[in-house]
Amino acid sequence: MEDKNNRPIGFFDTGVGGLSVLKTAIKLMPNENFVYFGDSKNAPYGTKSIDKVRELTLKSAEFLVSKNVKAIVIACNTATSVAINDLRKIYDIPVIGVEPALKPAIELKRDGKIVIMATTVTLAETKFNNLVNKYGKEAEIEPLPCPGLVEFIENGDLNSKELKSFLKSKFNKFEGSKLSSIVLGCTHYPFIEDVIKEIIGSDVPIIDGSLGTTNELKRKLEEKNLLNLNNKDRYIKIFNSSENKNLIDLSYKLIEI
Ligand code: DGL
Repeated sequence: MEDKNNRPIGFFDTGVGGLSVLKTAIKLMPNENFVYFGDSKNAPYGTKSIDKVRELTLKSAEFLVSKNVKAIVIACNTATSVAINDLRKIYDIPVIGVEPALKPAIELKRDGKIVIMATTVTLAETKFNNLVNKYGKEAEIEPLPCPGLVEFIENGDLNSKELKSFLKSKFNKFEGSKLSSIVLGCTHYPFIEDVIKEIIGSDVPIIDGSLGTTNELKRKLEEKNLLNLNNKDRYIKIFNSSENKNLIDLSYKLIEI
C-alpha cells in the first residue's frame, strides 16, 4: 500500500518566483518530496484580470493534484489573493497561501514608512486591504506596485543595469523619507534582494514571507498527521508550462540544487 505521507507537497507560482519559498521548505523539511509547477507561459499574472488569474490558478492546481500531492502551497501572493478561498472549497487537502509579511515588519518597531512591494493585483485585492485595516494604525504603510519587475526575474535577470534603473525609478519617490522596512509582497522579489539593498541601503531591513509560509505548511501537515518522518531518497521535481528550456535550468539554479 502506498504510504500517504510519502506523497509530495505541491508548490505553485506563476513562474519561478515561488522557488524562493520552495528553497526555504527544502531546507527546513528535509524528509519531504516536492513537486513545483511554474506557469511561466502565462506570467505575469499580476496585471491580468481577476477572472483570468482565478482560471489560471485553478488550472495549475489541477496539474499539481494530478501528481498526487498531499498539500498545495500557493507560493504566489497574486494567486493567493484571488483564488485561495476557491481552492480550499474544491480540495480537501491542506492549501497554504502566502501574503505580504506585514506583521513581522510592524514588530520591528522601527520609525518610518513600511514599503510593501507587490503586484498591482495583490495590492488591489481585499486580502491586502484587510491587512492594511488591521495594522494601518500602528504604522505608515506605503504600497508600491511594481508592474514589469516580475519579467526581469523570469528572464533570469537578477542584476543588470536596466533592473537597477527600474528599481531606482520605483524608489525615487521615497528620496528623503525615512524607511522602516521593505516587505517583499511577491515571491519573485527575494531573488533580487541584493539589488534592492544596493538601492535603498543596507540599513533598511528587507522582509519576505518564506519562513512564515514554511512554518505554516509544517504546522498544517503535523495537524493532519501528514509529515514524512523518514525519507532517505527525497525528490524535487520542477515543471513549467513554458516551452523555454532555460526556465527549468534557471529554476534549478534558483534553488541551488
Ligand atoms: N510570484 C507572484 C506573486 O507572488 C508573481 C505574480 C505575477 O505573475 O505577476 O505575486
